[in-house]
Amino acid sequence: MRSFDGRKITDEDLAKIKEYAAGIEEPFGIPVRFVFLDAEEYGLSSPVLSGEKLYVAGIVDKKPYADAAFGYAFEKLVLYAWSLGIGTTWIGGTMKREQFEKAAGLKEGEMMPCISPLGYPAARRSLKESLMRRGVGADSRLPAEKLFFDGSLDTPLSGQKKEEIANLTEMVRWAPSAVNKQPWRIILKDGAYHFYEKKDRGYVSDAAGDLQKIDVGIGLCHFVMGLEERGSVPGIVISDPGIPVTGDMEYIATVKE
Ligand SMILES: Cc1cc2nc3c(=O)[nH]c(=O)nc-3n(C[C@H](O)[C@H](O)[C@H](O)COP(=O)(O)O)c2cc1C
Repeated sequence: MRSFDGRKITDEDLAKIKEYAAGIEEPFGIPVRFVFLDAEEYGLSSPVLSGEKLYVAGIVDKKPYADAAFGYAFEKLVLYAWSLGIGTTWIGGTMKREQFEKAAGLKEGEMMPCISPLGYPAARRSLKESLMRRGVGADSRLPAEKLFFDGSLDTPLSGQKKEEIANLTEMVRWAPSAVNKQPWRIILKDGAYHFYEKKDRGYVSDAAGDLQKIDVGIGLCHFVMGLEERGSVPGIVISDPGIPVTGDMEYIATVKE
């Protein structure tokens, strides 16, 4: 959502979001801090947004797995906001990063990979939103056969195994990702789902970490929340199964029902 109607978030909605943010947990034991920033007070804006009055910035210590933890935790906030009718956009590029970092009080050893506006959607999309969506192909996604595999990358998940998790694959497919690259790949082996990052060039920086690892954290969040919705209590571990993968792929984490 990049076009907002210009209204401020109500005090009641903001209180709910802040309370939810304070209780967010993620699987890697790396806390994500959320800072709420008034656009006018700090003179903040983004060239792809219109009508927004408030932002949330996420801050995390720079350490291994900070990116995936960030993706997971920030996405929980995004989904919760939408449950209140509040629109968001993950923004990792189209902003004046230094201004947001300063306003958020970023400290040494921390990073602020992304921010998001928080606002009520406008009745119509702005032209810049429509252009942005078209530019990144935001309304389409890769088919499940290119993302979910059975035992090895040679075999797309199919048949009953595919059917059993059909709604979970949809939840992962439609997750947001930087430039809509959808860099998550999942291999089912011995009843466990192993999540990998399929890397493109140009998504790693000192200031924002690895945006595609953040994406995998987002996909993981959707998958796990889908399992929870089914009544499962999924476990998430870091335990590389050693399945041969291509050189542009990196193992991230495993989900067990
Ligand atoms: C980590 C991350 C960074 C993103 N950065 C930007 C950004 O800088 N500017 C922007 O307009 N959209 C950004 N997006 C939004 C994606 O372009 C968007 O999620 C994708 O095109 C799919 O569209 P949808 O989320 O509306 O389905 C980002 C998304 C993610 C997950």
